Amino acid sequence: MQIHAAIADLRAALKNRGRIVFVPTMGNLHAGHISLMTQARAHGDTVVASIFVNRLQFGPNEDFDKYPRTFQADCEKLDAAGVDVLFAPTETDLYPEAQAYFVEPPAIQNILDGEFRPGHFRGVATVVSKLFNCVQPAAALFGKKDYQQLMVIRNMARQMALPIDIIGGDTVRADDGLALSSRNGYLSDTERAEAPRLYRLLTHIRSALLAGHTDDAALENAACAELTAHGWQTDYIAIRQQSDLNPPASALVPRVILAASRLGKTRLIDNIEV
Ligand code: PAF
Repeated sequence: MQIHAAIADLRAALKNRGRIVFVPTMGNLHAGHISLMTQARAHGDTVVASIFVNRLQFGPNEDFDKYPRTFQADCEKLDAAGVDVLFAPTETDLYPEAQAYFVEPPAIQNILDGEFRPGHFRGVATVVSKLFNCVQPAAALFGKKDYQQLMVIRNMARQMALPIDIIGGDTVRADDGLALSSRNGYLSDTERAEAPRLYRLLTHIRSALLAGHTDDAALENAACAELTAHGWQTDYIAIRQQSDLNPPASALVPRVILAASRLGKTRLIDNIEV
């Protein structure tokens, strides 16, 4: 696997490499990332991954400084997964001057996670569009665990006429249902044992919806109360329509249940489609 930090070196390395498929990450790779790398192979000739912990998408009181950085182990995993090229820029490579131009997503950036992480999706959209310019992929893969992020990026690519297929990869879960996430490493043993409750509640809500339950607010509130009773602090549990993440126009539209809740100091997000 080739590793490049400088944009010019990356561009030179990607000349005449056929259809490029790109998987951007912030590192600390787990089986969810590796599954995206493996899927990427089926979509093109050259698989490019990136590792960059993007300061722009972290709020002032968030975990940018303590975000796990495990570069050597990540390189070994990417190499074993058959990734051809890793783009691992430093902050100076990607932001040689303070970034003053931004990609500003529309109202979707202010709901759900955006309400609790102001500026997050602007930071994501900005870095992803910059990474796209560096790599110039024909397709890019993102995990569905970050459902709202996937939608922001898909809408951005469509509206900006980017010639990039945006592909969503299914969430990979531990045996007990917990969605794999780099932030799971922050959990204590007790918190880790408690954490699968979030997914259990999402599956419970999905079963209720499929059984014809129509009082969305009652389902959301009951799940929230159960989390609170077990020591969680919940930002949201929301039943939304898949098309735009607004409240469902009816029980007939495809829906998704999204949640963000804090266990101790760790904020976990998850979702499940109905
Ligand atoms: O999902 C992530 O890991 C990040 O938000 C991304 C897409 C790599 C942008 O920094």
